Amino acid sequence: MLRPKAEKLDLDGRPDLKDPDLYMRGEHHEIFRELRAQEPVYWNPEIDSTGFWAITRYDDIERISKNPNLFSSAKHMGGHRIFNEHEIAENQTDATMISMDPPEHAAYRRMITPGFVPKRVSNMEARIRARVTRLLDNLPKTGEAEFVSAVAAALPIEVLAELFGVPESDGPKLFEWSNATVGEDDPELRVSDDYMRQCIMEMAGYAAGLWQQRVEAPGDDLISMLVHSKIEGEALTFPAFIGTFILLVVAGNETTRNSISGGLLALSEHPAERRKLLDNPSLIPSAVQEIVRWVSPVLHMRRTATEDTEIRGQRIRRGDKVVMWYASANRDEEKWAEPDRFDVTRYANSQTPTQLGFGAGQHFCLGSRLAELQLRVLFEELLKRFPDIEVAGPVRRLRSNFISGIKEMPVRYSV
Ligand code: HEM
Repeated sequence: MLRPKAEKLDLDGRPDLKDPDLYMRGEHHEIFRELRAQEPVYWNPEIDSTGFWAITRYDDIERISKNPNLFSSAKHMGGHRIFNEHEIAENQTDATMISMDPPEHAAYRRMITPGFVPKRVSNMEARIRARVTRLLDNLPKTGEAEFVSAVAAALPIEVLAELFGVPESDGPKLFEWSNATVGEDDPELRVSDDYMRQCIMEMAGYAAGLWQQRVEAPGDDLISMLVHSKIEGEALTFPAFIGTFILLVVAGNETTRNSISGGLLALSEHPAERRKLLDNPSLIPSAVQEIVRWVSPVLHMRRTATEDTEIRGQRIRRGDKVVMWYASANRDEEKWAEPDRFDVTRYANSQTPTQLGFGAGQHFCLGSRLAELQLRVLFEELLKRFPDIEVAGPVRRLRSNFISGIKEMPVRYSV
């Protein structure tokens, strides 16, 4: 079986949080608001599986994320997605770090951490700025463009190609594979199961070629780091390498892309907030945190209870799926005054609670600094160059319960 599509379920008026249409239609915030108030630990049945606990409050999600012994990410327990990863044929690679628990997780995370240390990331700033400048130079002189393909998708893909040490011309392939991997519920992206199988074969073939090249000629890139790492004295297995390669392709790509496009959409819808950034660009780092809070590009991650336990007095049994909805935690009224207000100054105050868009605990996003850097540089240059850029037509959203995504967003700007 390939990654299962979310089956529609009639819950007699109660929400089915697995329904990808909720997110495409933007109905989820209203539903999450009610769940936070009335049933913050909500049982969501499933047609094709056991059902899951939906966790919607910030403090609960933070606690769960920081207790991997009780709430496991391990693939053999089901992994980090709502479907059970160990039952999915396309996942017959070894588990990757995002689907591991301590102590194994730490050994794998250490392997690629050097690729994301602050110094290495900040050294990328000048090159990221040059890429952003070129992408903006190439925007059509007509004053109209499709922003996702021209900028929001292009930048993270180029940065990923740099991290991997592969030519930028490989970018379109990485883009297509990443879309297919997370797009199981969007018929435009998961054209057919055969197409998905073909993408998996292509990714594996591509990764195998890279592995061979880096064995022969190691470089300073992430792929070389993986190929030459040791886990407890042993080289990384080839299936573990492919799994990690796919994890990075998806993790580094969809998330940053949708923060960029979601961020511009938010600024278009809140002109007074844009004005604040134009008047005071030093607010852009605060705006970046607010954008990730507002967009929550990763809607949820899943854990599995390893023992019988309780959350807010609700009994959770060993083996139960527990799904942490970051998109809800990031609007929790117990944490923020006016959580439904987009406020670019919010994070200028150091007392403001951390947003949970990058997760928490041991799996806290390894690429967060790199994502923040891309967002900061992008909005610095974009607002300098096209201060009046705005959304100019209907936005086409991704059909997914996992990634809050924008597929197309027409923009206009003065040239
Ligand atoms: C705005 C952009 C991004 C968002 C919102 C985001 C979100 C997340 C979240 C929520 C997790 C936690 C998973 C869990 O707790 O189960 C995570 C993990 C991860 N992210 Fe990101 N991410 C972003 C960008 C990136 C980038 C640019 C990269 C790399 C190029 C990256 C690589 C990873 C990796 C490798 C993990 C797994 C870490 C582990 O399991 O220890 N992410 N990300």
